[in-house]
Amino acid sequence: MAKILLLGSGELGKEFVIAAQRLGQTVIAVDSYANAPAMQVAHSAEVINMLDGDALDALVAKHQPDYIVPEIEAIRTERFYNYEEQGYTVIPSAKAANYTMNRKSIRDLAAKDLGLKTANYRYAASAKELSDAVTEIGMPCVVKPLMSSSGKGQSTIKTEADIQKAWEYSQEGSRGDVAEVIVEGFVNFNYEITLLTVTQREGATLFCPPIGHRQERGDYQESWQPATMQSEHLQTAQEMAKKVTDALGGAGIWGVEFFISDDGVYFSELSPRPHDTGMVTLGNTQNFNEFELHLRAVLGLPIAEITQERIGASAVILASDHSDNPTFEGISTIANAKKSDFRLFGKPTSRPYRRMGVVVTYDSKEGDITNVTKRAKELASKVRVLK
Ligand SMILES: Nc1ncnc2c1ncn2[C@@H]1O[C@H](COP(=O)(O)OP(=O)(O)O)[C@@H](O)[C@H]1O
Ligand SMILES: [Mg+2]
Repeated sequence: MAKILLLGSGELGKEFVIAAQRLGQTVIAVDSYANAPAMQVAHSAEVINMLDGDALDALVAKHQPDYIVPEIEAIRTERFYNYEEQGYTVIPSAKAANYTMNRKSIRDLAAKDLGLKTANYRYAASAKELSDAVTEIGMPCVVKPLMSSSGKGQSTIKTEADIQKAWEYSQEGSRGDVAEVIVEGFVNFNYEITLLTVTQREGATLFCPPIGHRQERGDYQESWQPATMQSEHLQTAQEMAKKVTDALGGAGIWGVEFFISDDGVYFSELSPRPHDTGMVTLGNTQNFNEFELHLRAVLGLPIAEITQERIGASAVILASDHSDNPTFEGISTIANAKKSDFRLFGKPTSRPYRRMGVVVTYDSKEGDITNVTKRAKELASKVRVLK
C-alpha cells in the first residue's frame, strides 16, 4: 500500500483522503493548523508551516512518502524539484506545482511558449509601473498579485482613480515575498468553465464534462455540470488543456479554467489538483468523482473512461461570523430535500465568508441544469452558520 503525504488538509483534501481510505492507502495529512478537515479522516497528521522549506524537507525525510500530493498553492514548491531528484514522486510534478503557484510562470508558459489565447497582460512591480501597464492594456482591467489565490488582493480598475487603490490592495493580498502583480485586460466573457483534465502516467489524457461556475469575491458560489457550450468551444478548451498539462507533466487531475466570450475561448489559469468547483462531482455526476480520479491517477491505476451519469450542481455554505465553535441551522431542511446531498467540512473555526460546507443537487441526464443549479443555491441559502 502506498504512503501519501498530503500537503494541505482542507475540504478537497478530506474527500481525497476518503477516496484513498476506500482503496486502502495510507495518508499523512499536513496543514498549518490542527484538526483540519482532511486530518480528521487521515491516518496521521502533521502541523507545519508549508512555506518553510526546511520544515517541509524534515517532514519528507521523516515520512519518506511514495507520493507527495499538494492540495494548496501556498507551499515552498521550489523544494519539490529536490524531492524529485531524490526519487520522490510529486503530484502531478514539481514543475506543475511550482509554475502554477506564480501567475507569471504559468501565464508566460501558456501565452508565450504554447501560444494559447489569454487576456492581454502586463506585469507591474510598483504603483508607477501599474499605471503604465493600465495605459497599455486599457480599462477595465484586472489586477492580481502574482502569488495569491481565492481572489485575494485582486481588483478591477475601471477609472484612473482606481489605480492607486488597486496597487495597495494587491500588496495586502499578496502571499509571500513577491510584490509584483499581473494586469489583465478584462475579458467580457459570456460564461466561464473549469475543465477537469486527468493526465495518466500511462494512458490517454481524459476530460470531464465541463463545469460552469459563478464567482463572487474571488470564490466560487455555485458550479454545475455539464456547462452548456458549443462543441467547437469545448474542443478548443480540451486542446488547450492538453497542451498546458503536457508541458507541465505528470499524473493527476487538473482544474483548467477558461473564459468563453463572443470571440472565442480564453485560457485563464489552472490548478494541478482537484478544483473547488469540481465538488459538483460529489453529486455522482460522473462514474468517478474528481477525488477518485485524482487518486487513481496518483497511484497509476488505469482509468478506462470518464462517463457522465447525471447532471448536477453545487452551492457553497458560507460562514458569516468569527467563531471557535461554529454550528449549523437549517440542516434538517436540506436533508429533507429530494435529489440532493450535502457535506459539512468540520472546520474547527469560522470567519466571514469561510466555506464551511456544500450542497449538491442532481437530476437525470434529461433534467434541466438551470433548475438543478437554482435548487442548489436555494438549499444552501437555507443553512446558517451560527457562532
Ligand atoms: N481578465 C479577466 N477578465 C474578466 N474576469 C476575470 C479576469 N481574471 C479573473 N476574472 C474573474 O475573477 C475570477 C478569479 O480569477 P482567477 O485568475 O481565477 O484567480 P484565482 O487564482 O484567485 O482563482 C475568475 O474566475 C473570473 O471570474
Ligand atoms: Mg481561479
